[in-house]
Amino acid sequence: MNYKHAYHAGNFADVVKHALLTQLLYQLSSKGKPYYVLDAYAGRGLYKLNSDEAKATREAKAGIELLVEHCANSDQPIPKTVQRYLNTLAVAKETYDKHVYPGSPWWIAHEVETQADTVAIRAEAFESQANEYDALNYQLFKLPIGIHHRNAFEGITAVIPPKEKRGLILLDPPFEQEHKDFSRLVDLLVASYKKWPQGSYALWYPIKNKEAVSVFHKKMKRTGIKKQLICELNVYPNDVPVGMNGTGMLIINPPWKFDNYANDILKYLQPILKPKDAPSMSTEEAFNVRWLVSE
Ligand SMILES: C[S@@+](CC[C@H](N)C(=O)[O-])C[C@H]1O[C@@H](n2cnc3c(N)ncnc32)[C@H](O)[C@@H]1O
Repeated sequence: MNYKHAYHAGNFADVVKHALLTQLLYQLSSKGKPYYVLDAYAGRGLYKLNSDEAKATREAKAGIELLVEHCANSDQPIPKTVQRYLNTLAVAKETYDKHVYPGSPWWIAHEVETQADTVAIRAEAFESQANEYDALNYQLFKLPIGIHHRNAFEGITAVIPPKEKRGLILLDPPFEQEHKDFSRLVDLLVASYKKWPQGSYALWYPIKNKEAVSVFHKKMKRTGIKKQLICELNVYPNDVPVGMNGTGMLIINPPWKFDNYANDILKYLQPILKPKDAPSMSTEEAFNVRWLVSE
């Protein structure tokens, strides 16, 4: 594997994923009780949008840069969660420099730091590629998140259930072999849920191949796992041949009413992130938040 998130940092999928992550963390923290967060596919933690990798794809132009520009030039009210996400991004830019876009372990470490006086959050991150792990360790070693050179497939089930009894496992794999990856991830979620059925799990996935996604949904439905929420946003209709048509997240045991907040986030972001040349879509295809399995 030679996946480098530096080519994709700040793209539309990162915006949606990190806005949803911000809301998940906010709701977990609001209860005021200790919890555990594991970022099982961490990446390097901080990215520069003026790096050679980012310039090679310019994906952030159609992601975070589009959103920031929209907010600067529009009077449209911004949902609270998206505002919180943008405020946190501003903290990262102030702390490092204006070209920075933070990865998921930084968003998590920031929550641990800012909530330190009100709720005890224990955070850990796994990264399996040696050079990505070295970069992560170098960039975030001062922040309150334990960093491990570890494989999610072995590591997740080894560290759960956590002593805190509440918490979130974020799974954000590279999906280099879509069909195979989806199947292995279903097995991983089943094994993890068996060890810790009370935990929340958020699995990010790309929407490139509609059939692969629908097979994944069918397999998840058959697992017997309850409370599975789907959050999907498409920027191109499914039949348009682009690299990635949309972004999805499957959340097991989301916090109470998270579905309503997620809906507000996607409803706001979709028209902003949809490229101008993209054909129009039905609202259902543009974004949807729905229970794959409820109670
Ligand atoms: C999509 S990137 C992560 C991006 C990050 N979560 C974010 O939002 O900023 C996926 C990362 O997972 C790492 N990875 C791939 N397979 C892994 C595994 N089995 N266990 C842990 N990390 C893995 C890759 O090296 C890559 O850095």
